[in-house]
Amino acid sequence: MKIMILTTSPNKDGLTEACGKAAKKIIEQNKAEAVLVRLNDLQISACRACNDGFGSCNKTAACQTIDDFQGVQKLFGEAGGYIIITPVYCGEMSESLKTFFDRLRRCEAFAKAGKSKLQEKPYLAIAAAGGSGNGTVFCLSSMERVLNMMKASRFDLLGITKKNKEYMLKAIEAATEMMLK
Ligand SMILES: Cc1cc2nc3c(=O)[nH]c(=O)nc-3n(C[C@H](O)[C@H](O)[C@H](O)COP(=O)(O)O)c2cc1C
Repeated sequence: MKIMILTTSPNKDGLTEACGKAAKKIIEQNKAEAVLVRLNDLQISACRACNDGFGSCNKTAACQTIDDFQGVQKLFGEAGGYIIITPVYCGEMSESLKTFFDRLRRCEAFAKAGKSKLQEKPYLAIAAAGGSGNGTVFCLSSMERVLNMMKASRFDLLGITKKNKEYMLKAIEAATEMMLK
């Protein structure tokens, strides 16, 4: 199975990246394919809410704004499951993930567009927070909401902070392994 790991932090050596590496290690140990995408290395602009606000994306599942979005959307179609990791910023998901999800949701969440590329595929959503961990639950809840609208299948939602990192990295490994089964 091909699993997409989507990291959405600007830091290449932070907590988000550590979570991505933990998941990747387990995927590779299990002889599955890991595709790691760092959203912040890409150029993905904001949704323009084209036409009367509905755009054509809800019918065609294609966004009219051409940039790196299309490549990541294609990878979502090819993958059999997802591990999506965001830093917690002000109790929410990162701006890069929010911007990407805004556009992906319009393409994949509506019946008019046909079957969602994420339909029934499992996802693990991970929120990587600072010392306080405040806002982690809200962040995970909004990730769940968007992913459920796109008909993906929740495997688990995990919050990791600098304090619980030692055991939560192990939990991420365990969850990744279970998701592959
Ligand atoms: C703008 C900003 C807002 C933040 N807001 C929160 C927050 O609401 N709750 C929290 O626990 N940590 C918060 N943090 C801390 C980050 O979630 C934490 O540093 C996390 O490890 C960032 O991920 P990274 O290590 O991949 O960069 C914030 C950090 C920044 C830069």
